[in-house]
Amino acid sequence: MLRNLFVTKPVDPAPHVDAGEPVEGSLSGEASLRRVLTARHLFLLGVGAIIGAGIFVMTGKAAADYAGPAVILSFILAGMTCALAGLCYAEFAAMMPVSGSAYSYTYSTMGEVIAWFIGWNLVLEYLFAASTVAVGWSGYLGGFLDSTFGVQLPAILAQAPYTFVAETKSFARTDGLLNLPAVLIVAAVTALCYRGITQSAWANAIIVALKVAVIVLFLAFAFQYINPANWDACQAIAASGGQFSAELVAELRAACAAGSPGLAIIPPGTEAGLFGTDGVIRAAAVVFFAYIGFDAVSTAAGEAKNPQRDMPIGILGSLAFCTVLYIAMAATMTGLLPFPELGTNKPIATALETYPTLGWLKTIVEIGAIAGLSSVILVMLMGQPRIFFAMSQDGLMPKIFGKVHPKYGTPHVGTVIVGVVAAAMAGLLPLSFLGDLVSMGTLLAFATVSAGVLILRYTRPDLPRPFRVPFPHLICPLAVIACLYLFWQPFADHWQVMLGWTVIGFAIYAVYGYRNSKLRRGQV
Ligand code: ALA
Repeated sequence: MLRNLFVTKPVDPAPHVDAGEPVEGSLSGEASLRRVLTARHLFLLGVGAIIGAGIFVMTGKAAADYAGPAVILSFILAGMTCALAGLCYAEFAAMMPVSGSAYSYTYSTMGEVIAWFIGWNLVLEYLFAASTVAVGWSGYLGGFLDSTFGVQLPAILAQAPYTFVAETKSFARTDGLLNLPAVLIVAAVTALCYRGITQSAWANAIIVALKVAVIVLFLAFAFQYINPANWDACQAIAASGGQFSAELVAELRAACAAGSPGLAIIPPGTEAGLFGTDGVIRAAAVVFFAYIGFDAVSTAAGEAKNPQRDMPIGILGSLAFCTVLYIAMAATMTGLLPFPELGTNKPIATALETYPTLGWLKTIVEIGAIAGLSSVILVMLMGQPRIFFAMSQDGLMPKIFGKVHPKYGTPHVGTVIVGVVAAAMAGLLPLSFLGDLVSMGTLLAFATVSAGVLILRYTRPDLPRPFRVPFPHLICPLAVIACLYLFWQPFADHWQVMLGWTVIGFAIYAVYGYRNSKLRRGQV
């Protein structure tokens, strides 16, 4: 019985696949998705999913609350972790061009029950991320309408009925009833995903062009206003205490006067455990959210024209491109303002407000952020039904998720179900506390995929691998350790929720997946 739970799905060598051919691994006679995406589409899907709330919303708090100017190092650390995992994703996605991503890879290496666990965690990544970012989108839109046109959305329709108070870990009533803008953006994006992947990829490409142009504009114009003194944590804290309490400012200034033993860009650690090198690592776990999405490219492997060649280009190309942009953004933001002043939900706008001559950029950045967040929602809402599609084909999810629209070639029923759930969550739930959960679910998937690459090198050395992780005995274990280390950072704050999520997942597996698995019933 226990052995049965760990049964692995056999993986056949994937022949070269081309546009229009069925997805390798799909069951004969069953519907499959259309192969229409090129390397350029895949790269743009990656950038569309990656650049979003992480950089536009979370960076400021990561700098002000944890790392100071050393948030630049946090971005480098998180980027290196993603690069290690990205190499592993590239090997799998080129070798097994199917839509299930980490779930499918795990099924072939570690067995059904772990694959289910990872598939369940991917819901945290995709579905929850879409809702979380939709709430961020709504916030940005409200701010933009107010500051640019003086239009204020009625509170009752602009926020969820409850908010989560992090200090007391409890819920508090708000003036709101429904976050209508968040519901509407999810509905619009769902309609696009239903209509077709080509249309979705087109819309994504336009949005990506806009948001990257805005970021480049910001970097080009803000560059000349950087004050290098702000990169020295002690000089920054001497210049301004921002929103910090008087006690914290006094403690930091005293520690600076006593002489900081570390790098100048790292603020000295405090009694309460803030800042210092630990803060840099905690901030790396926060800004990891900003990198999530390059792996979403792998969910489109079933629709790529030439996945063997193009998957590594899409995954690694988008990751490398965004890493460079992020490090430049982090350096610019922390150079523009002393870090204690960056702790807002709109750090770029906050930094720009300080320089009146850059005021014109603020509106453009806000438009870029609104566009940027919508493409994250788009790629996440594209990815989730495709993972459910793969799970349904294996019998672990109901058949309805495996239905493909006869004309549009999309998993349309799954898309609508995912859209409705994501819209309900975005409209009704206080999702501000879910950012860490999204990252934790993703990091578990990354660690499992990285271990899987090494396992499959031993169990199936014969499989053709169009892309190979270099030095796998070094890279794969390093990737696992780095991902689990970042996973561990927020774990203490959220272990109850993670445990509850896992228990619910296994209960569903016991009731449905265990009985209906095609592999365990000998149908594969
Ligand atoms: N990386 C995506 C974002 O930052 C999830 O919004």
